Amino acid sequence: MYNPDLYQKTLLFAAEAHQGQKLPGTELSYLVHLSNVAMEVLTAFTKESAFAIDMDLCMQAALLHDTLEDTAVTFEQLTEVFGSKVAIVVMALTKNADLPKSERMPDSLDRVVKVGKEAAMVKMADRIVNLQPPPKHWSKEKRIAYKKEAQLILNKLGTFHKYLSDRLKQKIKDYQAFC
Ligand code: NI
Repeated sequence: MYNPDLYQKTLLFAAEAHQGQKLPGTELSYLVHLSNVAMEVLTAFTKESAFAIDMDLCMQAALLHDTLEDTAVTFEQLTEVFGSKVAIVVMALTKNADLPKSERMPDSLDRVVKVGKEAAMVKMADRIVNLQPPPKHWSKEKRIAYKKEAQLILNKLGTFHKYLSDRLKQKIKDYQAFC
């Protein structure tokens, strides 16, 4: 079981950090994305033995996964408020903006593999949530590249969690309709 008080504390922190940010292409709060990613990992806990999973760590990383990439929150701040384990997982989920664009995802995935199961679960949940009908202005090339990137995530991380990898596989299949 995960700690629901910790969930609320973490959601509040994420809400403050992402304040004013919208779900791309909408007027809706970015929290829709974060709470959907958290919901995916919480559901995953119930689908197969959660024996080797640090559920609090996984749930918190889900809520915080975009803070280092998209907000003013720093690694030091995450460490101070949530501890170094959480900060390290969120860091692995953060793309290194100093790298050429094409290397950013493979580099992040390599770090996710090293950090382990909780990071891998959040990354798969993130892409499951993002594989929705693409924004209208996305070109066919962009949609195909997005699907290819999702396949890379599945190939790299699929072995970490059967339920999430099956779910990601199905989402990729469904996304084919947009490619
Ligand atoms: Ni995300």
